[in-house]
Amino acid sequence: MTKNILVLAGDGIGPEVTNEAVRVLKWFNENKNTDFRFSEANLGGIAYDLEGDPFPQTTIDAARKADAILLGAVGGPKWESLDISVRPEKGLLGIRKELGLFANLRPAMVFEELAEASSLKKEIVSGLDIMIVRELTGGIYFGEPKGVDTLPDGSRKGYNTLVYHDWEVQRIARVAFDLASKRGKKLCSVDKANVLVSTEMWREEVAKIQAAEYPDIELSNMYVDNASMQLVRDPKQFDVIVTTNMFGDILSDCAAMLTGSLGMLPSASLGDANSDVCSALYEPVHGSAPDIAGQNKANPIATILSASMMLRYSFDLGKEADILEKAIANVLASGVRTGDIMQEGATLVGTKEMGDAIIAQLDKLVGGKSQAA
Ligand code: IPM
Ligand code: MG
Repeated sequence: MTKNILVLAGDGIGPEVTNEAVRVLKWFNENKNTDFRFSEANLGGIAYDLEGDPFPQTTIDAARKADAILLGAVGGPKWESLDISVRPEKGLLGIRKELGLFANLRPAMVFEELAEASSLKKEIVSGLDIMIVRELTGGIYFGEPKGVDTLPDGSRKGYNTLVYHDWEVQRIARVAFDLASKRGKKLCSVDKANVLVSTEMWREEVAKIQAAEYPDIELSNMYVDNASMQLVRDPKQFDVIVTTNMFGDILSDCAAMLTGSLGMLPSASLGDANSDVCSALYEPVHGSAPDIAGQNKANPIATILSASMMLRYSFDLGKEADILEKAIANVLASGVRTGDIMQEGATLVGTKEMGDAIIAQLDKLVGGKSQAA
């Protein structure tokens, strides 16, 4: 089965980390019966520089017809002074909205070998495996009205609006309940229902879906301030968390850090699987890290794990994803590290060498024949 993967390498370390993930996917072409074809387009700062728009029409067209998208990262100081309407982040928000990618899956799992790298005590994070499901195309990120007005007295008023429709809450709740049913059967919905009426409605709608469709999943509700505290106090109490766009943005960074390194965490942004445009984008949770860009220092594992999520969720290749995750675990167990996860006594390697090590482990695991170039 031929699958067309659009690579949006983006800015900063994006090209380096996506390059390693593509090499790993090519390994599957050479050693397993996959037929992944790759094409590239511009998104973010690079797209602004080359095409005058962080999300140009050429990229929209290519994205719509892909089977899946692999994204690196967007943004950097070079574009920070641009008007907000053409900043790199606009490209990212644009592609989420354009393709209807409403469900953002951000797993936070601790690789045993890295449990020491967490800023929390090892026993708090060891064995951690939680999934944050963030609503991605609604809420305060996209709500209207928004703007900055100058009032008659000359003062300025800035505002954004936290809007949710019941159907937006229902569809993200279903994604989260479905995930919970394949995992620990526990879902925690995070809101600020004590203050924000739109999230009080969120809470009610999630409860309705649970009662009608998922009676066997244990549902709890938590205010976001408490959830942030619980995440650092006792993260293993959670299985799946579902929350709004902005709360998910914040909590997923917090959850990421529990694992010791942002360089390890993948994500999937999914839309309606029956849509006639591409509805799956995979990207590392980390950003473009301009300070280390172009130096072969970035950790490609988050992007390679994102490719693994692609295998699992877009192409139904769960076994292949398992092999890839095993290869990564073996590499970590062998003491090979990029700078962000470096530990005493380990071997420090660069981005490419980390890719090489993972491919070598894949060869070892399946008796593979190649070193994908
Ligand atoms: C993320 C990022 C983005 C977001 C930014 C870069 C627009 O922080 O994916 O978490 O806020 O969604
Ligand atoms: Mg974020």
